[in-house]
Amino acid sequence: MEYAVVQSARSTVALNAVCPYYTMYPLDFPLRVLKAHGKPGDWVIDPFCGRGTTNFAARLLSMPSIGVDSSPVAAALAQAKLASAEPDRIVECARSILQGSKQPSAVPEGDFWKLAYHEKTLVQICKLREELLVECSSPTRVLLRAILLGALHGPRPKRVPSYFSNQSPRTFAPKPNYAVKFWTERGLRPDEVDVIAIIKIRADRYLADLSPKVDGMVKLGDSRVPNTFDDVPKARFVVTSPPYFGMRTYLPDQWVRLWFLGGPDFVQYRQPEGQLQHSGAKKFAGELKLVWKNIVAHTTEDARLIIRYGGIHDRSAEPMDVLKKSLIDSGWKMVTAKAVPDSDTGRRQVRQFQANPKKAITEYDVYCHHA
Ligand SMILES: C[S@@+](CC[C@H](N)C(=O)[O-])C[C@H]1O[C@@H](n2cnc3c(N)ncnc32)[C@H](O)[C@@H]1O
Repeated sequence: MEYAVVQSARSTVALNAVCPYYTMYPLDFPLRVLKAHGKPGDWVIDPFCGRGTTNFAARLLSMPSIGVDSSPVAAALAQAKLASAEPDRIVECARSILQGSKQPSAVPEGDFWKLAYHEKTLVQICKLREELLVECSSPTRVLLRAILLGALHGPRPKRVPSYFSNQSPRTFAPKPNYAVKFWTERGLRPDEVDVIAIIKIRADRYLADLSPKVDGMVKLGDSRVPNTFDDVPKARFVVTSPPYFGMRTYLPDQWVRLWFLGGPDFVQYRQPEGQLQHSGAKKFAGELKLVWKNIVAHTTEDARLIIRYGGIHDRSAEPMDVLKKSLIDSGWKMVTAKAVPDSDTGRRQVRQFQANPKKAITEYDVYCHHA
């Protein structure tokens, strides 16, 4: 498939935007590198797949792919990037869940939940949540779940609502105390929304013109763990962007989406075990090394590992030093490192974690071969 064709058919790429994800990279990056160096049928791995941008790029180029991420939100979104279903079936599935007589066994309580959602909307969200927690294996349900995750919170529109919540950020979930104060001070009450209408608008927007399904899978897992890639075919490409050293808030910042996926109805701040540990630059480089070592055995002799990497300002360690250290004795050899030219892109991860980002820290695209 021609890259130009993919780019011009806007709706073909629409599914990638089904739900925002912290520190996602632009679709253009994996598309460009896979298009330049690969061919249809080549297997691709992303061991830190996030919302599944690499998997989606691979799909557009008819390349099968594997994604792994230890965040349940990331895994749920990335799974959707490999799924196909007609928009009508998704709406039908949601409607039949909501029409069912079974009431949700639990509806969260407290000031945050009272002000975040209209009480009737919250009951509907809970019904969908509980049903999808029991069964979410079909592509229709995987896509419905991703659509719901994308609609859970976001800005209140002037006319037709496209989110279920009171005024909120769309990329990350607001912290409860801050949100309650914000809504109360401004007299913002949640509207009752038409949940099915929102699902329909979104299903039509994201799924109208999907590219054909390709082989592949996304696992909720820890890429440091030795057997994570055991049942995976050998890949020619690993295209990925690990957390930048010091970025630890992937899960607390997604706490409402995590709740929807079965987590608690409050924020948990402690760093979960499946995430890379950021206690020191040396330790972090060692954690990354475990991942590079793990995947090298699951790649072909001529495989390339392509890493987008940068840094954040609250850590003094030089990002490229951390990355280079992680590659020593990892089975991979760095061949080139190219600075990502666009300074906006350079601020991508930093911008999302700091209110007033200082000078952008340059990001690099690092190309490696087997050592
Ligand atoms: C920079 S984000 C990847 C974003 C992705 N490129 C995208 O476009 O959405 C890094 C991801 O690494 C995941 N992660 C952190 N530690 C992990 C581990 N040990 N195993 C697998 N994934 C991990 C985080 O949950 C996060 O989703």
